[in-house]
Amino acid sequence: MDKVLKALRAGRDEHVDRLKEWLRIPSVSADSAHRADVRRAGEFILAELRGAGFQTKLVDTPGHPVVVADWLGAKGAPTLLVYGHYDVQPPAPLELWRHGAFEPTVEGRNLIARGATDDKGQCLALVRGVAGMLAARRALPVNVKFLIEGEEEIGSPNLESFVRAHKDELAADVVLIADTAQLGPGKPALTVGLRGLLYMQIDLAGANRDLHSGSFGGAVANPANALCGMIAALKDGAGRVTIPGFYDSVRPLTQAERAQMAALPFDEREFQRGLGVEALPGEPGFTAFERKCARPTLDVNGLLAGWTGEGAKTVLPCKAMAKFSMRLVPDQDPETIRNATIAHLESLLPPGLKMKITCDHGAAPVLVPAEGPWTRAAVRAVAKGFGKEPVFMREGGSIPIVSTFRKVLGIDSILIGIGLPDDNAHAPNEKFDLDDFQRGIETAAHFLEEMATVSRAH
Ligand code: BES
Ligand code: ZN
Repeated sequence: MDKVLKALRAGRDEHVDRLKEWLRIPSVSADSAHRADVRRAGEFILAELRGAGFQTKLVDTPGHPVVVADWLGAKGAPTLLVYGHYDVQPPAPLELWRHGAFEPTVEGRNLIARGATDDKGQCLALVRGVAGMLAARRALPVNVKFLIEGEEEIGSPNLESFVRAHKDELAADVVLIADTAQLGPGKPALTVGLRGLLYMQIDLAGANRDLHSGSFGGAVANPANALCGMIAALKDGAGRVTIPGFYDSVRPLTQAERAQMAALPFDEREFQRGLGVEALPGEPGFTAFERKCARPTLDVNGLLAGWTGEGAKTVLPCKAMAKFSMRLVPDQDPETIRNATIAHLESLLPPGLKMKITCDHGAAPVLVPAEGPWTRAAVRAVAKGFGKEPVFMREGGSIPIVSTFRKVLGIDSILIGIGLPDDNAHAPNEKFDLDDFQRGIETAAHFLEEMATVSRAH
């Protein structure tokens, strides 16, 4: 490994330059105006992989293209599938960025740009680690396949059918993903659970036009008032979701799981201070840490109604809109919860209004093994790459394809967190620690080496 590590370290500036180049491409998958940019970001990582000696192809889907690549020269050795995504979240609100969202800028140890941590930086760490090893040795100790998509941030709508159609081509022993985070600086983590997601939009319509709130107020249903009431009714005052049946399939946390979480080096007071809030209210009976990664919840993501400009305009709006999401945990089924939510919203709708419910993306919750040969290989790799053994934890976010890998390919995923919890993913001034970038690159190479020591008969 000395030769590999030496080469990876000598390449540090180049790793950063390539990351900056990738980050300059505004690959916002949710915005059709950026369609060509998304493709360009896919072509960028494809060129990177091709240049490193992988067989590559860009496969079109009804949405954004999928990048696949492989190097299969390690006959008889295990096969790794590396997954990542090259699309990013929209950069808005632009005025809160200290630099342009797509003008990557180094501030101290951090690189600031949309996608820096989620997921270009973390994804490139794996690519560079594997590619660097191949360059230094002209061979890899295991077979490696890559699947890098451009639609993760919109719920991977086309990836499940892609995986089904390319089942044989994607066959592997295990998946490696870097799209989560460490527990904190110097606290590397393996993620063993992800929450699922259900995202919905409600549109309420009242009268056939906006009305004078004096002439009509009190006589006509106000969609804004009604929407606030309906949303308020989705949770009780204490923070429990009130949709009938919502908790029915929630697998209770065991005492052992709760003890393991309580023992993690996570300081709730520090977490609270970092957010600038005076309290952390939520579902009774659970710690904030449990509530953000191992319990289901419901949050409004956006609201729109009526007059929001300067001063007062006495208007009774004729429509109102809300977007909200539910984070799900094992064994909640997104489809069942979706039907229960729709039925509940219908029961809450006051007379005199029309409601349209739209369902955006969904993702199933998933747990991955905290033991087994690949997990142990990952623990050893992280210990070498970060100089510290990883903690095991669940994450509150979602990566839709992880449950599909299990279901369709029959394989588990190793989720290595290279980023940090305060990286501002999806928010202004997203950042990525460049020292962690380098540690992630080295961890990827170590992982291949550790994988190769796992006997085929495990
Ligand atoms: N990298 C995140 C997933 C993540 C977030 C893992 C937080 C751990 C902690 C990923 O890119 C993401 O944002 N996923 C979306 C999925 C959705 C659009 C279907 C999410 O969780 O909102
Ligand atoms: Zn994301």
